[in-house]
Amino acid sequence: MTTAEKDHPQTGPFLGVIFGASGDLAKRKLMPAIFNLSRDGLLDSSFAILGVSRKEMTDEAFRKKIIADMEELAPGELTESMKEKLIPHFFYMSGDVTQAETYERLKARMSEINQQCGTGGNAFFYLATAPTLFSPVIHALGNEGLIAETSDYWRRVVIEKPFGHDLGSAQQLNADIQRELGEDQIYRIDHYLGKETVQNIAVLRFANGMFQPFWSNLYIDHVQVTVAETLGVEGRGGYYEHAGALRDMIPNHILQLLSLIAMEMPLSFGADDMRNEQVKVLRAIRPLEGEDVTRNVIRGQYGPGTIDEKKLAAYRDEENVNPESLTETYVAMRLAIDNQRWAGVPFYLRTGKRLAERVTEIVVEFKKPPFTPFRETTVESLEPNQLIIRIQPDEGISLRFVTKVPGTLLELDEVDMEFRYADYFGRAPATGYDRLLYDCIRGEATLFRRADMVEAGWRAIAGIQAEWEVNPESLTDYSSGSWGPAEADALLSRDGRQWRVYV
Ligand SMILES: NC(=O)c1ccc[n+]([C@@H]2O[C@H](COP(=O)([O-])OP(=O)(O)OC[C@H]3O[C@@H](n4cnc5c(N)ncnc54)[C@H](OP(=O)(O)O)[C@@H]3O)[C@@H](O)[C@H]2O)c1
Repeated sequence: MTTAEKDHPQTGPFLGVIFGASGDLAKRKLMPAIFNLSRDGLLDSSFAILGVSRKEMTDEAFRKKIIADMEELAPGELTESMKEKLIPHFFYMSGDVTQAETYERLKARMSEINQQCGTGGNAFFYLATAPTLFSPVIHALGNEGLIAETSDYWRRVVIEKPFGHDLGSAQQLNADIQRELGEDQIYRIDHYLGKETVQNIAVLRFANGMFQPFWSNLYIDHVQVTVAETLGVEGRGGYYEHAGALRDMIPNHILQLLSLIAMEMPLSFGADDMRNEQVKVLRAIRPLEGEDVTRNVIRGQYGPGTIDEKKLAAYRDEENVNPESLTETYVAMRLAIDNQRWAGVPFYLRTGKRLAERVTEIVVEFKKPPFTPFRETTVESLEPNQLIIRIQPDEGISLRFVTKVPGTLLELDEVDMEFRYADYFGRAPATGYDRLLYDCIRGEATLFRRADMVEAGWRAIAGIQAEWEVNPESLTDYSSGSWGPAEADALLSRDGRQWRVYV
């Protein structure tokens, strides 16, 4: 028995239907996640994956494609014995999901595979397709009776972001899918929540007595969340033109991180208890409107620049991008949370493309001590204590504090106490998709977003979206390879603070 088998039970029998099986998400994330779960001994032997997309392919051709993709993505990892064991579990059906006849054939194919592989009728449907297809596909699955559960088997649907493009469309999407499915059958995936370090935020806060007394406006000065990418739009200009940094990152990934940092202690780590607390704090975010948006939100777009000595083009010169585009590739903001714990503590969030470094980090900065006896030293210039939670890359946690420099003089300096996942646990933390697929198959919804969380995320940025609609020119430039617009630095410096500096 492997360690994984001892620590985690296997999934139980299931059939996973992946719509969009010939696409990028299936290739880069979903299939590798299935392989990882199998390698770790977490999949029941009675499982099957049925890929669906319009491309004509036989089962055989689909299996060959999966092997070729795996060999391209993780050369040498797929052993002959893994291939032999796994590949017969994969099936394919070509079909257009906008056509009713596809679902009749799907029903027949599912029942055939169920007989052949003993999947027990349990099935999830993964919608790795364009968001415009979410509602029609779920509706068609409902019409064909494919998502009705019985006491013998479960049926679930997994949806990828984006869940709408604003509050209204998210409410509409939720209403549409809730007409066909119970909330407990809907798994809205946010792969950030599958990351070990993200889950560890709750563990750090609630399993360690030492942090609890400090976790409030009494001791915390402010919180920073940085999600910085060095990549540009990488050929996805067409998609990004309609998304932009605000929509793409804030209401989902970044507000999820914020909710874990700021939530009250849940009664348990169960799905309802956790999500009830997360949604409460999201609802407490003070909405920004009109003038407040101009004062508290910075919107930028990358111009030309250099990263690693490579010359890079401006966003407006990217493929499929309007040369006069007003889409933002960077956003920074200052949010307030209106509750007793966080009153007076600003939360500064920033995310952008083509920045100087790829890093996702949360910095919790503590207040300086109100009095210190070290008057003759340089204590005034010392930085305050910081707890830094690094989500990627090089996942870990570090604590910055002041110490005495060895020597006869009383000299003080800041040091970092570091914990790195890789040092302690010997292997890189799992990517989000492994964990999330596993949880979905086991019916564990804690790490998936509930309808009210999605809507609370959109509600928090609704005023910003409205203001930018009337005032789309409020965009500043930054050079590729920099840390974003100077205005974002000013957002903090005017409060006497600064973004964490990366060297
Ligand atoms: N790629 C990522 O890393 C990523 C990350 C986060 C979220 N997402 C989300 O995941 C979803 C899929 O993204 P993707 O990047 O995989 O897109 P993609 O590469 O364009 O793949 C789309 C898939 O949908 C299939 N498809 C399109 N129309 C269809 C129809 N009428 N009937 C049946 N199949 C159809 C396509 O296959 P055929 O053309 O053969 O039909 C293809 O397999 C999107 O909602 C995206 O926003 C993707």
